[in-house]
Amino acid sequence: MPQTIAVLDFGSQLTQVIARRIRECQVYSKIFHFSTPAAKLREEGVIGIILSGGPQSVYAKTAPHPDPAIFELGVPVLGICYGVQLMGHFLGGHVSHSKEREYGHGHLTIKQPGKLFAKLPRKLRVWNSHGDKLTKLPPGFRPIGTTENSPYAAIEDATRRFYGIQFHPEVFHTERGVDMIRNFLLGVCRAKQDWTTRDFISRTIAEIRAQVGKGRVILGLSGGVDSSVAAALLHKAIGKQLTCVFVDNGLLRKGERDYVQKLYGRHFHIDLRVVDASKLFLRRLKGVTEPEQKRKIIGRTFVAVFEKSLKSIGHAEFLGQGTLYPDVIESVSIGNNPASLIKTHHNVGGLPARMKLKLVEPLRQLFKDEVRRVGAALGLPREVVWRQPFPGPGLGVRVMGDLTAEKLEILRNADAVLHDEMMASGYYYKVWQSFCVFLPVRTVGVFGDERTYDYVIALRVVESIDAMTADWARLPHELLQKISSRITNEVRGVGRVVFDISSKPPATIEWE
Ligand code: XMP
Repeated sequence: MPQTIAVLDFGSQLTQVIARRIRECQVYSKIFHFSTPAAKLREEGVIGIILSGGPQSVYAKTAPHPDPAIFELGVPVLGICYGVQLMGHFLGGHVSHSKEREYGHGHLTIKQPGKLFAKLPRKLRVWNSHGDKLTKLPPGFRPIGTTENSPYAAIEDATRRFYGIQFHPEVFHTERGVDMIRNFLLGVCRAKQDWTTRDFISRTIAEIRAQVGKGRVILGLSGGVDSSVAAALLHKAIGKQLTCVFVDNGLLRKGERDYVQKLYGRHFHIDLRVVDASKLFLRRLKGVTEPEQKRKIIGRTFVAVFEKSLKSIGHAEFLGQGTLYPDVIESVSIGNNPASLIKTHHNVGGLPARMKLKLVEPLRQLFKDEVRRVGAALGLPREVVWRQPFPGPGLGVRVMGDLTAEKLEILRNADAVLHDEMMASGYYYKVWQSFCVFLPVRTVGVFGDERTYDYVIALRVVESIDAMTADWARLPHELLQKISSRITNEVRGVGRVVFDISSKPPATIEWE
């Protein structure tokens, strides 16, 4: 295991951001539930602890409190926001309760750089978001930085290696915030920078080999970033003991199946089984118009097809999955923290238990950007590593209303034109998602001398950070014009192209 920095999660929406910033410093971090016993942290070989922020007041009846013994472990502790109030509360200081939150920019003046603020300018803009405030220092501490509203904006007890900051170093709005975190990791905790892509790959390969032994692993390959990287990594570790299954559900983009076959089968020499189940999916979806109903049918059919294909492949003990870190952490449910939903993300629902398969999840410690780096290091092409997200139900939720082979074909052709132009212009990698939606509405037009009565294609191109909110991308008019005229000229059955200018919220990214 790499050296670990524990982030204790007190319910802040920024807990994951703290973990990422630590990893950006090439130090491994892991998020723990706030109540994790100190003994468990010791067992995990934790060399430093960061206490996250949180929405509560330390005085609230339901306030999350850590095991007080974490302060006896002899490892450095950095409290951020709520974390510093906890330190005040537990170590003999005083926290004043305030009903009003201090929110937004503040100006930090560094009084004593010490280790935490080493090599930083004396004045920095910082980002605040807190209600309560530390008003009396715990014994052994001294102030090292002040803001206009707080004489104790940053504090330290250099002997015990305890540090506290009232503002949020993990957000971009705090100048040099990452440097403060790095100073804590390298200067205070003396962490080794052993969290690099190369180290991760070699360590994970050894772990996969140890787990799998001579066993066989089956992996459902979707062609998306996560399953692709998981496949490449597993293949590097166990070669022919890996079999990948790719299900063609008839709801794929144009050329998708060929691409997957060429890349993984011929280029990587992965044992790849392609199952063509498109007819079955279309049959089961016939006449279904309600989006959630479509999703359910597609999900259930996928599981059934996958399960059947496993039987034909023969005995396997393991199921490989591209589960990522944000899917597995159990965040603390406090206030309205959206990260608090505990996701049990099993790509192939109920299957592992029913088939008595053990899971191999080589990416479960990684964030998406780390997965991309691993994929690139393993030689996956840019168009796979930087691929836009594509929903599991595929084009099934991009043809409005009931699905037919004809409508899917029109959508596929229009979408291929959009993809082509997004790639050629370089916009494909600048936006979050770009795709076409088929509208089962026929409108009048003219083509040559003839009157036409054809369908409508909507272009949906959005910018987003995490798909929680999104805004429509301001594509250049010339590019939109080119896409529109190519689609109406080249795709039979389309007479009109419209551009979706709705943001999320209130609209969603997908139309169904
Ligand atoms: P919405 O439409 O909710 O989409 O704004 C947010 C993100 O999730 C993707 N999406 C899905 N992904 N199965 C998936 O695997 C689904 O049923 C599904 N529905 C939406 C969508 O493409 C966007 O990136």
